[in-house]
Amino acid sequence: MSNNLLKGKRGIVFGALNEMSIAWKVAERAVEEGAIITLTNTPVACRMGTVTELSKRLNAELIPADATNVDDLEMVFSKSQEALGGNIVFVLHSIGMSPNVRKKRTYDDLDYNLLSSTLDISAISFHKMIQIAKKMDAIAEGGSILALTYVASQRTFYGYNDMADAKSLLESIARSFGYIYGREKGVRINTVSQSPTMTTAGSGIKGFDGLMDFSDKMSPLGNATADECANYCIVMFSDLTRKVTMQNLFHDGGFSSMGMSLRAMNQYNKSFDEFKDENGNLIYG
Ligand SMILES: NC(=O)c1ccc[n+]([C@@H]2O[C@H](COP(=O)([O-])OP(=O)(O)OC[C@H]3O[C@@H](n4cnc5c(N)ncnc54)[C@H](O)[C@@H]3O)[C@@H](O)[C@H]2O)c1
Repeated sequence: MSNNLLKGKRGIVFGALNEMSIAWKVAERAVEEGAIITLTNTPVACRMGTVTELSKRLNAELIPADATNVDDLEMVFSKSQEALGGNIVFVLHSIGMSPNVRKKRTYDDLDYNLLSSTLDISAISFHKMIQIAKKMDAIAEGGSILALTYVASQRTFYGYNDMADAKSLLESIARSFGYIYGREKGVRINTVSQSPTMTTAGSGIKGFDGLMDFSDKMSPLGNATADECANYCIVMFSDLTRKVTMQNLFHDGGFSSMGMSLRAMNQYNKSFDEFKDENGNLIYG
């Protein structure tokens, strides 16, 4: 259903790989709400993924670019302005990748060259795209920039590895640049902290099925889906949130404010069943 929340707004969506991608859902919803957009992803992702199909369907130019490369980013902004006919009103950074996770390096055995890549791809790329956009004066007054993050930036989650550090940096960049870009041009910069979601990037995390189930049981509203995340991003791109900036916004069904839920406690208690003494008494510890 469309409410025309983004009618005539020009946007760039980074990171749609396939139909599971959060960026894919955001792109679809943005166009449904009346936006005109360009799509961008790495040249490899553009070749391997199904994003060309999305690009055709949404009538959105697909611009292959590596988000860690400043020349590529400059090209993305200038081509997008050309294709869309003016300054950009919203940008989605939906990019994350850890070569350490891919190579199964644990957090106490990180390869530091790979750590640099994790930070560059998953966090510094956000700084690069904002700095370039600002220097090019490519974002319209009152525009909205969003990046997707995860609560492991603030609390420790088994298996999230160096992506936790990348997400902390990403959230910090939103605050630091949000101040400057807000003050100078009224541009909002926020991060949306999303529930675990079954996507290509998500499923790379160790024990992801267990994490999704735990998170769902802990959240009073259950895990937020990629479609629901897209809805939230649309509101953040719209004129309804013009005074929201420098925030890390949890979109997680309430997970981040929970300590223990009944559902999670019941599940946890089940794990004691096998630890009974000969009289059938439960043994804790
Ligand atoms: N899936 C989850 O559980 C979850 C939860 C919270 C936040 N997030 C975040 O959401 C964002 C999107 O991830 P997703 O879950 O939709 O997975 P996804 O795998 O569909 O998207 C990740 C994207 O990053 C792109 N990418 C990687 N390196 C790049 C580079 N150098 N330049 C440009 N693009 C590059 C990939 O091609 C891919 O399109 C990520 O920031 C991720 O950390 C995901």
